[in-house]
Amino acid sequence: MVEESTIRLMTRLANQYNAVNLSQGFTDEAAIYDMVWGAITASLGGTEEGINRLEEITLQDIRQRVKSDVQSFLEMKLKDVLETLQNSRDVFNQYSYPFGLPELRKTVADYTERFQGFRPDPEREITIVVGATEGLFTSLRAICDPRDEIIIIQPYHEMYPSQAAILSLRPKYVTLKENPQEKTWNLDRNELEEAASRNTRALVLNTPHNPTGKVFTKDEMNFIASVCKDRDILVLTDEIYEHILYGGRRHYSMASIDGMRERTFVINSISKTGNATGWRVGWIISPPEYTPAIRGIHDTLVIQSPTPLQKGAERLLRLDDGFYKDLWKEYVEKRNILIQALHGASFGITPPEGSYYLFANYRDVPALSNLSPMEAAMYLIKEIGVATVPGDNFYAVGDFGNSYLRFAFCRSIETLQEGAKRLEKLR
Ligand SMILES: Cc1ncc(COP(=O)(O)O)c(C=O)c1O
Repeated sequence: MVEESTIRLMTRLANQYNAVNLSQGFTDEAAIYDMVWGAITASLGGTEEGINRLEEITLQDIRQRVKSDVQSFLEMKLKDVLETLQNSRDVFNQYSYPFGLPELRKTVADYTERFQGFRPDPEREITIVVGATEGLFTSLRAICDPRDEIIIIQPYHEMYPSQAAILSLRPKYVTLKENPQEKTWNLDRNELEEAASRNTRALVLNTPHNPTGKVFTKDEMNFIASVCKDRDILVLTDEIYEHILYGGRRHYSMASIDGMRERTFVINSISKTGNATGWRVGWIISPPEYTPAIRGIHDTLVIQSPTPLQKGAERLLRLDDGFYKDLWKEYVEKRNILIQALHGASFGITPPEGSYYLFANYRDVPALSNLSPMEAAMYLIKEIGVATVPGDNFYAVGDFGNSYLRFAFCRSIETLQEGAKRLEKLR
């Protein structure tokens, strides 16, 4: 019924053919240290007191604890030193409230107020989940019954239609179209108006957008909001790239738009901002009347997101504004390396406004022009040594995706430079 993810398949093929992996959206760089430290102290410290002790302790204190002379202490393995610090009492490696640690939910409320200007109630509106992926699934299940109609904007993240299929929902697709002259990806407002009806239960929106890099403008958000209010449609917004924006673009959360809070489910996670896609910590901000259903489904499905990693996530979400405001800077050079490499190889591109993907048209690349997206992706993996994702993977209807490949530029500069060098073979 639901097939394996093509994106994850491309990663496996990248490993098999030793290709530079620009397919799946995860980095090869370190996770954010404060966040990692938060998880380490939770796991080792075991309790709040244990965490506080670890925050304060110096190497001198530890040496006295292990009653060792300086030389033997210096020769100790770090693992053995840390073992002496492990608390014999424990809270943070155990089950915690299924819907999330109270301190993390409060932190999500503070964070949302800081960046989106509204404050969700940690008790009634916030649920900590296993990444945005579970956040979307659980929300869809809480909102929809089998056979309900939902609107998905294509190109999309592949989990949207796959989850809709598992839940027996009926997706209707609205297609973003590239204008290669203006270098924009555009929402056809008439198409949205036609797709949205009083039978539509929900609309899934992703901004900043994967795979096109589009950032929906305030005007577009207002338009989508007005259609949804008019036809009584709920909105699920996937905002996991909210801080990765270029050229002064701004991200607007649908929940911050007048009259939308009560019909919007904000889905977010630390995967991208924390460089921690493997941690599986995310959250849902839901209208309070849906929160009990969301929490019930979440508890039954997965119980909870890992407790020590929630403690780490809390540190990430408490970092200064500066960390978030500067996040895009890390990607600007990477984006430029990829843009230049793709230009050089005659790909058609609309530079991304946000997120860290580039959806490139390959029809003018001589070696690829007559190939299907999967054939083009396989050629790039086997002959050029670069892994991408075939464009048709992001579409359900029409042949819009047949000229595209998606490149992810969230890797290290060195990895991207190696990818760029390999792409020179296409010239
Ligand atoms: C738009 C979008 N939503 C959700 C996810 C998955 O997020 P998470 O790791 O929080 O489940 C991805 C991952 O690439 C994504 O691009």
